[in-house]
Amino acid sequence: MRLTTERRQAMSKPYGELKVGPRILLGPGPSDVDPKVLRALSAPTVGHLDPDFITIMNDTVELLRYVFQTENQLTLPMSGTGSAGMETVLVNLIEPGDRVLICVAGLFGQRMADIAGRCGAVVETVQVPWGRIIDAGEVRKALAKGSYKLVAIVQAETSTGILQPLDEVIDLAHKNGALIVVDAVTSIGGVELRVDKWGIDACYGGTQKCLSCPPGLAPVTFNGAARKAVASRKSKVQSWYLDLNMVQNYWGQERFYHHTAPVNMIYALREALRLVYEEGLEKRYARHRRHAGALYAGVTAMGLELAAQEGHRLPSLTTVAVPSGIDEARVRRDLLNGFGVEIGGGLGELKGKAWRVGLMGYSSSRRNVVLFLSALESVLKAQGFQAPTGAGAAAAEVFLAANPEG
Ligand SMILES: Cc1ncc(COP(=O)(O)O)c(C=O)c1O
Repeated sequence: MRLTTERRQAMSKPYGELKVGPRILLGPGPSDVDPKVLRALSAPTVGHLDPDFITIMNDTVELLRYVFQTENQLTLPMSGTGSAGMETVLVNLIEPGDRVLICVAGLFGQRMADIAGRCGAVVETVQVPWGRIIDAGEVRKALAKGSYKLVAIVQAETSTGILQPLDEVIDLAHKNGALIVVDAVTSIGGVELRVDKWGIDACYGGTQKCLSCPPGLAPVTFNGAARKAVASRKSKVQSWYLDLNMVQNYWGQERFYHHTAPVNMIYALREALRLVYEEGLEKRYARHRRHAGALYAGVTAMGLELAAQEGHRLPSLTTVAVPSGIDEARVRRDLLNGFGVEIGGGLGELKGKAWRVGLMGYSSSRRNVVLFLSALESVLKAQGFQAPTGAGAAAAEVFLAANPEG
């Protein structure tokens, strides 16, 4: 009791109501959340077995099938962020001693390899320099060494700005008898993703990128082959919380309690998915491509360089090389303090060498492209980098005029 009182006295600061300044989120995620999604988030909390909530859960799963482009029965949002989706897929599919091949082209490929190792897998990797795609020839060579339980690859590598081609790798994995796992955290809802058509066995995403929902849920989907692999495990899934055998009993007909669902986050996801459905996936993919194209035109006109391999740039996340002599952290700070604009710095091999600019979901707009380019010009000028005045925004506008909305 005494301790509590002392602690309270030490906390002499008056705690005002929570206030969060307005921001324009153009980093690697989270992206700006549509006000409609924020409204859904603040709807009254109901019980996680309430009949109305069950309807909301069913809608959410149906809409998730739409964004994944799948008929997979086992499709649901896991509680937790994108990494929980990654971990769900890997802990459910991998048993100790399984041989797995992980494609590593950046931080998130590395994370998959780390998790697979923690599951007790014998992990082999295909590695490429950051900013390049994984070459299918390298995957073929690696798979020639034997048979694998699964091959895992990141479709949209947020640490490098690469959009990984998947078709050949999927084909190679299946010829080997392996399952193919795809990380779609930065592609789902913004970049073409067709789980059934492409033959992806297990896939996961996150809510806070192209779906423009707050971080907190990780949609996952498993096809028949992946479900069979889970059902025929000899050992228990290492993680109780992420064990799909139990989680799906809550999301399925049984509605068995497993853990208390994050009710309001599911409201938010349902609304975010409804907005994707309303816009239509094809239109949404085109919007992301169009604004990314305008951004490329703008930064290039300013005399800056793009860091990701040409022809394989990710529409939702662009890496811009930091010119020599420029303090990259100061640019980010000045953008945030002067303009309320958040962008990301480089990670791993790109630390200090690149900025990461996200145009995801609600954030992917003409307003944000033009605003960002103008703000960037201003903060770079403060460090002596002379971009031709107005060139970035003007080039972006020219691109948009030449590429009207479909
Ligand atoms: C490609 C990719 N995979 C996985 C993750 C992990 O997601 P989270 O940070 O939501 O746990 C991220 C996050 O940025 C990501 O970009």
